[in-house]
Amino acid sequence: MLVPHRNFNLINGVHSPDEVDQIQNWEIRDSDIFVVTYPKSGTIWMQQILTLIEAKGDVTPNTEHLNAQRVPWIELIGSEKEFNATPSPRLRVTHLQYKFMPLAVRQKRGKVIYVARNPKDVLVSYYHFHKYAAMLETPKDFNDFFEKFMEGKVFGNCWFEHIKTWYANRDNMNFLYITYEEMIKDLRSMVERMCRFLGKDLTEEQMASVVEHSTFRTMKLNPQANYKTVPDSLLDHNKGTFMRKGTIGDWKNHFTVAQSERFDSAFQEKMWDLPLSFVSDINDVNSAT
Ligand code: PPS
Repeated sequence: MLVPHRNFNLINGVHSPDEVDQIQNWEIRDSDIFVVTYPKSGTIWMQQILTLIEAKGDVTPNTEHLNAQRVPWIELIGSEKEFNATPSPRLRVTHLQYKFMPLAVRQKRGKVIYVARNPKDVLVSYYHFHKYAAMLETPKDFNDFFEKFMEGKVFGNCWFEHIKTWYANRDNMNFLYITYEEMIKDLRSMVERMCRFLGKDLTEEQMASVVEHSTFRTMKLNPQANYKTVPDSLLDHNKGTFMRKGTIGDWKNHFTVAQSERFDSAFQEKMWDLPLSFVSDINDVNSAT
C-alpha cells in the first residue's frame, strides 16, 4: 500500500507523487501556519488547538467539521487547488519530510509548528492505528510492526530522520518546537506559547475555553475531533479508536525488554548530535510538577 517516492513512502490512492513534488512551488502567505508531525505525535490535538485559537475559544467550528477538514493535510490528492482558494489564515498539517516543503516556507515565509512525541509511544500508537486504518497494511503482530517501524517501512519513514531533518533546519523557518509530553504536563502553558508564537492575544475566558476543549476527555466525546464520523470503510471503528489512550508510557505495555534496549541504543546512535530528549514515563511528568 506504500508507494516509495524520493526515499519517502507515500500511501497508494491517498497521495500522488507528482502533486507532492509540486508542493515546493506553492505560493505562501506570511499568515500561513503549518503543523508538522511524524504520524501519531499529536496532529489531531494541534488541529483542535489551532482552530480554537483562531476562533478565540468559540467551539462552533469544532463541532461542525472534522478536524482534518478544518486543518487539512497538504500532501493529500487535490490539496493545492483548495489551498489556493482558501482565505487567510490558512491552517495546514503535514507528515512530510522537510525536503518536500514549499521553498518559501524554507525562506521564513509562514510559520511552522513541529510537534514531537517520545518515539516509543509513537510506535505503539501507530501500531494500533495500522490495525484499523483501511489504507494501511494490517500488521501480523506487534513484533512485525516493531521491525517495520525500525526499518522506516511505514508512511512517514524513519522517525529519527523525520525529526532530525526538520530540527536541523529550524533556523531557516519561523519555527516553534513543542512536545506531546509538554502538552500533557501543562496544556495551558503550551497554548500560551503557541499564542505568543502566532501573535494571538486571548482573554482569560477565551484561553480557558481553548484549554477545556483541547483536553483528551473533551475531544474523545466530540465525534468531529476523533474521526467517529468517518465511514468504517476507511477506519474500522470495531477494531480501534482514534482517541485511544492519550498518555505517556503505554509503550511499557507492549515493548519487550530486548525491544526497549534496542530502541534506546538506536536513539543514542542516531540522536546524539541533537539537543533533544523525551519523557517516556508519566511519573516523570508528575514528579516534575
Ligand atoms: S495521526 O493519525 O498521525 O493524525 O495521529 P495523531 O493525531 O498525530 O496522534 C494520535 C494520538 O494522539 C493522541 N491524542 C491526545 N493525547 C492527549 N490529549 C489529547 N487531547 C489528544 N488528542 C489526541 C491520541 O489519543 C493518539 O495517541 P494514542 O497513544 O494512540 O492514544
